[in-house]
Amino acid sequence: MMEASSPLVFVARRLPEPVMARLRERYRLTDEPSDEPPGRERLIAGLSEADAAICTLTERIDDDALRAGCRLKIIANYAVGFNNIDLDAAKRRRIIVTNTPDVLTDATADVTWALLLAVARRVTEGHALVQQRSWSGWAPTQLLGADVTGRTLGIIGMGRIGRAVAERAAGFRMPVLYTAHQEVVPAVPGTWQRASFEQVLAQSDFVSLHVPLTDETRHLIDARALSLMRRSAFLINSSRGPVVDEAALAHSLKQGRIAGAGLDVYEREPAIHHDLLGLPNVVTLPHLGSATWRTRVRMGEICLENIDAVVNDRPAPNQVT
Ligand code: DGY
Repeated sequence: MMEASSPLVFVARRLPEPVMARLRERYRLTDEPSDEPPGRERLIAGLSEADAAICTLTERIDDDALRAGCRLKIIANYAVGFNNIDLDAAKRRRIIVTNTPDVLTDATADVTWALLLAVARRVTEGHALVQQRSWSGWAPTQLLGADVTGRTLGIIGMGRIGRAVAERAAGFRMPVLYTAHQEVVPAVPGTWQRASFEQVLAQSDFVSLHVPLTDETRHLIDARALSLMRRSAFLINSSRGPVVDEAALAHSLKQGRIAGAGLDVYEREPAIHHDLLGLPNVVTLPHLGSATWRTRVRMGEICLENIDAVVNDRPAPNQVT
C-alpha cells in the first residue's frame, strides 16, 4: 500500500509498462500520463504539485514551467539530450536536471546506419515498388544506388554516439574523418582521422551528425555547409533537427547539390519542411533513434534511479546542472 506521504511524481508521457509499474510501486503519480504530449496546461498543473518529474524532449521546460514547480526537486529528462530544458533557470531554482546517457548510444548508432544504408541503397524506393505491385522483375539499371563499402564516413561530433557510428564503419572498411576537440583513439581497427569541419564536409561520402543542440550548433548545416559537400554525398541526421537548416537542405536536394539525406529528426517536430516530403532521395524516420524496447525501459530505469537518489537526499547519478 502506497503511503500518503510518498513523493508525488509527474510523468509527462506514458512510458513502457515495466517502467510505469515500477513508478507506481514506489511513488504516487500526479495523474495518469497518456501517449500524447501533455499540453501546456497539464504540464504546468503537474509540475506545480510534483516533487519530481519525468519529462521528454517534446516538453518545453522554460522558466515559466519551472516557476510552477514550487516543490519540484528534480526533472529527470527521458533523453540524453536536454535542449528542451532551460538549464540556467533550473539552476537558479535549485531544481536538479538529469538525463539518460550511454543506454541509447547503440540504438541511436544502429538507426543512423539504417538511414545511411537505406538512402544509399534506395531501400525505401525498392520497398514501395514491391508493395505497390509495380515491380516487373530484375533489370540491369533498376534502382542503382551508391556504394557504401570503402567510402569515406564523415562524423560531425565524436561523442559517445559519433564513436559508436564510427566503430560500425569498420565492417564496411570505411575510413572515418571526424570533427572533435581532441584526437579519438579508434576502439576497433580502422582509419580514423581528425579533420576540420570544412574538410569533413568536403571529403566525405556520408556526413553523419552527432552534436548536441546548442546555440553554436543550431543551423550548423546551412547553405554554406551544404555547398561544401560533394554532389555525390549523403547527409545523415539522427542528432537534433535544428542542427540542420531544413529549408537549405530541401533546396540543396532539389537542386541536386547533394545526393540524398537520411533524417530521423526535424527542425519543428512533428512538422517537416514540405519540400522534404516526396523526394525519392530522402529517407525519413519519426525520431526513432532510441526506440527499442530495451533502451526505452533502461531510459526509464535511469530516470527512476535519479529520482530515487534526489528524493532521498543523495546525489543524482546523471545530473547535468
Ligand atoms: C535523446 O535521448 O536525446 C533522443 O533523441 C530520444 O530518443
